[in-house]
Parts: sequence; structure tokens; C-alpha cells
Amino acid sequence: MNQASIASLISRRTLLKNWSAGAIGLMLIGGKLPSILAADESRLLVHSKAPMNAEPPLPDLVRSWITPVESFFIRSHGNTPEINADSFRLTVEGLVETPQALSLAELGRFEQHAVTATLTCAGNRRSEHSRLKPVKGVQWREGAIGNAKWRGARLSDLLKKAGVRESAKHVWFEGLDSVEDGGKTFAFGGSIPLEKALLDRDVAPGALLATMMNDKPLTADHGFPVRTVVPGYIGARSVKWLSKIVVSDRPSPNHFVADVYKLVDEGTLLEVAENAPIYRMPLNSAICSPMAGAALKPGRIEVAGYALPSGVPGVSIRKVEVSADQGRSWAEAKLTSMASEFCWQLWTAEIAVNSTTKELIVRAIDSRGDVQPETVRWNAKGYLFNAWHHVPVN
Ligand code: MTE
Repeated sequence: MNQASIASLISRRTLLKNWSAGAIGLMLIGGKLPSILAADESRLLVHSKAPMNAEPPLPDLVRSWITPVESFFIRSHGNTPEINADSFRLTVEGLVETPQALSLAELGRFEQHAVTATLTCAGNRRSEHSRLKPVKGVQWREGAIGNAKWRGARLSDLLKKAGVRESAKHVWFEGLDSVEDGGKTFAFGGSIPLEKALLDRDVAPGALLATMMNDKPLTADHGFPVRTVVPGYIGARSVKWLSKIVVSDRPSPNHFVADVYKLVDEGTLLEVAENAPIYRMPLNSAICSPMAGAALKPGRIEVAGYALPSGVPGVSIRKVEVSADQGRSWAEAKLTSMASEFCWQLWTAEIAVNSTTKELIVRAIDSRGDVQPETVRWNAKGYLFNAWHHVPVN
């Protein structure tokens, strides 16, 4: 399918109709995006403005391997804080020999590293959980994911400077935003195991203290002036507006570690207490083109989308397969971007459709042979939806 035919395939009305019907499995690679989708000077489809939660239309998402900032999803639990860069200090405290309070200039004196990594919200594809049984929360489609070039100091270098004590096991992060929940107001927080925090491999550090995104300072929505980026982990561990790092012998007691980002069946207090926080994203893939509900002519069509590896060090995507006959036969997709353990891979596939084709399906297989599951178990908070992605077509 060439760009002109893709662009003509999507009318503004179809786009909006599909979006509001919850079926935005669109395409439009390289096509012009209808201006009606513009929101807040970006090209995002807004779920809520305060706090800001927005995702790109899928066609935008697979236009390039690096996601431009204006097409990068925004997931905030509270309002975006205004931060004075001159008086800003990042503190490092807890089980360290020498606590730190670093200005931005001091942070800039650490060796700077550039890392390309995909950030994915644990709630990406939640709307598909909701089709099994309703789940509360932002009804993300397949666009709560983006791949960016991040730049900043490695967390391991800061921790080395502060001197981690022997009893340390976890590293907590705290942002400058205030989140309201259950009548209480508190800062958003994250936590990662010390082993991850201390990784300083060339391919990607365990965590980066990013001040730049795609060669520009972070925007306010994405965490200005500094955020953590934790390659391979759910987006919630990449804390925006980072102001405090605490080294501890246990995971952070912050609500978003202790209660929220957990896999639970019904969400009882007992289940929440018994389950560990989620860290890694699972193997996943999605079709971004053609759009859900697209009218396809019988013949060979081009399908495009993304596949995400599981964030396990050393494991990347090996194969992506597409089916037009309910999974009876599969066509191998062409991987159009490089394999990397912490980045998505874009792909395209040619497949034959006929008048009986009801849907397109995609699944990914990784370098250790793990296959994306056909179905997933429903969970009360709607996290980590990674079943085969089905796109209904006419
Ligand atoms: N950090 C703070 N301080 N507050 C937040 O609400 N949201 C988290 C994470 N970091 C959040 C945060 C979640 S759930 C995700 S998925 C990512 O930020 C989203 O990052 P983005 O908005 O830059 O895409």
C-alpha cells in the first residue's frame, strides 16, 4: 500500500468514528494526519487533560523507529509541576556513605550517556482487558508506548559517588508532582532492585537520569528537568520530575509501588499485600495498519506494526507473524528496524485477504523462543495486556 492510498483510505470522519468507538487500530504510515486530531500542540488523542493522559493515533506511532516527542504518549497521575531549574536539587539519601544534593549543573558533570529505549505503560492495551470485563482507569489502546533517544547520567555513577552501604537492596525514586488518591495527596514514586540500578552495560544502563529526549531538553509533560528511564521496565518505574533518590533495604512504600502497579485478580487488600510490584514489560506486538474496521479489497495487502521484547537482558525479537485466517496459517513479517533488547521493532508484512477475512492477527516470538500468548488472564487493574493482537476488518 503506498502513502497516497493510505492517506486517502482514512477520512477524518472514519478516524474519529473509530477512535470514539474504541477501535482505533489505524494506519497511515507517512500519510498526513487530520488536523482535527491536534490537541495541546501535539498530535495526541487526549484521554484526560488534568492529569494529562494522551496517546498517538497508531498510524503516527509506526511512522518512525524513534518516536517524535509530539507523538509520544503522556501518562501522568497528577498535574504537571512547574519546576525552577535554578533552585532545583536532586537528593540521594538513605543507605549511602555521602548523601548528595545535586544541582542540574552538577548532574551535567557526570559522564553523559545516550540510550535508545522504549517506554511502555503497564496499562497499554487496557481497553482490550476491558472487553473481557470492564477495568477502571485510562482506557489505553495500543499507543501507550514510544521509543526515544534519552541522554543523561547513569544512576550507577551517582550511586558510586554516594557510596552504597552493604545492606542496600532497592533504590526508590520520588517525583515533584502531587497525586490525589483516596483523600490523600502524595508524590508519585517508583522503586527498582539495586542490581538493576547498578547495571552499567554499554547497550543500556540499568537506569538513566535523563535530561534530554530526542536531543532536546525534556518537555514539562515528559518530566523536565530530569527523570529516570529504566530500560525494559514498565513506564511507571521511569519517574518524571525526579527530585529524590533513596537507597534502602526494601522496595519503596510509595502507593505506586506498594499498592498500584501489581497483577491482582480482584484487587482485595490481601491480594495487593501478597503480590510483588511489577517490574518488566512482557513480550508484545500490535498491528497499527490497517485500521480496525478498514474495508480491504481481496488480494495482497500490507500490514504494519510494532513488536516489543520482554526487557530480559540479551533477549530481542526474533520473528513476527501475521495471520488472516484466524491463526490457521501465518506469514512471516519483515523486521524493518534493528534488533535491540530494550527497543521495539517495527515490521511490515504482506498477506493475502479475501472476502471471508474477518480479522488480522499478529504475534511475536523472541530470541529465546518465547511466543507471545494467544490469550491473557484478566486482571483487576488491567496491566500487561499482551495477547495476540486482533484487528477486525471488512
Ligand atoms: N512520574 C511521575 N512523577 N508522575 C507520574 O504520574 N507516570 C508514570 C511514569 N513516571 C508518572 C511518572 C507512568 S505510569 C508512565 S507510563 C510514564 O511515566 C509515562 O511517561 P511519559 O508521560 O513521558 O510517556
